[in-house]
Amino acid sequence: MSFRSPDPTPEIIVWVENLAKQFVLHNQGAAILEVLRDVSLTLRSGDCLVLNGPSGAGKSSLLRCIYGNYKSDSGRIVVRHNGQPVDMVAATPREVLSVRRQTLGYVSQFLKVIPRVATIDVVAEPLRREGMEAGRARDNAATMLHRLNVPERLWKLAPATFSGGEQQRVNIARGFVSDYPVMLLDEPTSALDATNREEVIALVQEKLAAGAAVIGIFHDEDVRDRLATHLLNMAPLREAA
Ligand SMILES: Nc1ncnc2c1ncn2[C@@H]1O[C@H](COP(=O)(O)OP(=O)(O)OP(=O)(O)O)[C@@H](O)[C@H]1O
Ligand SMILES: [Mg+2]
Repeated sequence: MSFRSPDPTPEIIVWVENLAKQFVLHNQGAAILEVLRDVSLTLRSGDCLVLNGPSGAGKSSLLRCIYGNYKSDSGRIVVRHNGQPVDMVAATPREVLSVRRQTLGYVSQFLKVIPRVATIDVVAEPLRREGMEAGRARDNAATMLHRLNVPERLWKLAPATFSGGEQQRVNIARGFVSDYPVMLLDEPTSALDATNREEVIALVQEKLAAGAAVIGIFHDEDVRDRLATHLLNMAPLREAA
């Protein structure tokens, strides 16, 4: 007999139940790599859930499944979107885009560089997409770039030639410029110096205090200890018997 839990109570904003994900490696004789098995979690406003575990444990894959980049094989990922529960596993591509636009922010480890777009506009773009007027969106982007110590002389340039740390700070500025109810953070501090790492910690703390929920991967133990309200321990799965 299969049992489905009822939809989560309103204070739960992300709810993952029995998630499973495997990759079929078509170029390697269709070998199957099982990455996530029976993963469940709940997230409420103000929670910072840190995914903890060695390299290859499936931490980034879990974030990608929640964001709808990877298709999950079974289970549910319920995200409260405009007050309504949306199952990201069953959602249409259009629904997934709508959830990403308004509800889920995602800061990947590396900036996806858009050629020829100036840094200030790369950062302002999520606000423009929400319908904010161009001048105001740029002002907000500028505030964020200042906070992350991206020098003003770089703002007119496209970030393609920036250093790894500069690109990461542009990426963080873009991720934090909007007020998403849920933020997914994949090692946002890995290429940063101590000053900028502190700034990112402050940004995350401000989002949490404002009621957002965060699922994060933080390489740095100190960052993890200071931000985590909950930990999800993950380990690489063994070959299925
Ligand atoms: N698109 C993909 N195709 C095939 N295998 C993949 C894919 N993405 C991830 N994997 C595999 O899934 C496993 C988990 O990868 P994942 O990137 O989720 O680990 P992680 O815990 O984030 O590791 P790290 O700490 O090194 O970033 C790895 O063995 C990886 O090779
Ligand atoms: Mg990873």
